[in-house]
Amino acid sequence: MKAVAIKEFGGPEGLTVIDISGRAPAQGQVSIATEAIGVGGVDVVIRSGALAAYGFREGHVPGGEVAGTVTAVGDGVDPAWVGQRVWAFTGTGGGYVEQAIAPIAEVLPLPASLSAVDAVTLGSSGVVAHFGLSHACFSLGEAVLVRGAAGSIGIMTVQLAAKVGAGAVAVTTSSHERGRRLRDLGATHVLDRSGEGEADAPAGYDVIIDVVAGEDMPSFFDRLNPNGRLVAVGAVGGQPPADFGTKLMAGFQKSMSFATFSAATVAEPARRAVRMEQFAAAGRGELQTVVHEVLPLEHAVLAHQKMDAGEVFGRIVLTP
Ligand SMILES: NC(=O)c1ccc[n+]([C@@H]2O[C@H](COP(=O)([O-])OP(=O)(O)OC[C@H]3O[C@@H](n4cnc5c(N)ncnc54)[C@H](OP(=O)(O)O)[C@@H]3O)[C@@H](O)[C@H]2O)c1
Repeated sequence: MKAVAIKEFGGPEGLTVIDISGRAPAQGQVSIATEAIGVGGVDVVIRSGALAAYGFREGHVPGGEVAGTVTAVGDGVDPAWVGQRVWAFTGTGGGYVEQAIAPIAEVLPLPASLSAVDAVTLGSSGVVAHFGLSHACFSLGEAVLVRGAAGSIGIMTVQLAAKVGAGAVAVTTSSHERGRRLRDLGATHVLDRSGEGEADAPAGYDVIIDVVAGEDMPSFFDRLNPNGRLVAVGAVGGQPPADFGTKLMAGFQKSMSFATFSAATVAEPARRAVRMEQFAAAGRGELQTVVHEVLPLEHAVLAHQKMDAGEVFGRIVLTP
């Protein structure tokens, strides 16, 4: 079967189409004929080689989020799954393939109203958005800033915060056009990447959901209200400066909090319940999935070039 692997760490050209033999699902696993494969930010980081110290090797097949039809089940899995359309999390790799393997615990049936492409746009990001907000103890009426809102996590966070009844939903983005689209999704204020650019934006925020981190992260502590919480859910801008804790302590009188959030720490039944609810909401048109582009699997290099160029608003999806 066709797959895409990292032949060489570095730029997108290090990705290559290969032919591999599929394997039967092991105990507790299913095999899925993929219809749609999400291109995640973490795939790009792994491809760059930045995570080599964490055990990622050249030859790795990237991709963690797929949707398609179950074709076979391993021991211990109900054979009734065969033929079902599903969304699945394959882990930190193994998704850029025609036939993916996933543990049954990470497989969800797709409602008939949701396409495979929409499912891989929403499946992971919606859960990060939902639990990221709850990790920040977000509550009704509070002012929220979503930093790095133009990606799939930010887009979902904006929608959820607006729906739940945030007092304000500000976003950072690098382009007017993206700002316009984010307003359509529920943003009330559009700021530039440094958090400036709109005179009537709130002076402070109760919650900042930060997809970016990086060198500028500590400057956003200044934008927290008393008792404000900044939760880092991503690090597309790299690591914050090593002394960022000093900046946090400088705001001691404001009782600010900083936290990281990873969906991996959410118990699987809770993730599943929220995902099911979000799939249903998307099927009813109550949550928008934003698909930047759908490309054939063999164009994974182009997909990664677009990711590297910062061109992507929402999600790029590959189809085998
Ligand atoms: N917490 C979890 O459980 C979890 C799960 C999956 C993934 N992640 C993490 O989430 C991140 C990917 O999220 P995503 O796909 O939503 O993001 P993304 O699409 O990669 O980036 C979001 C936006 O951030 C802005 N941006 C990019 N680089 C920037 C920089 N250097 N400074 C300021 N803004 C910058 C860009 O928008 P503008 O150009 O418009 O500013 C970009 O569209 C990764 O770090 C990944 O590891 C976390």
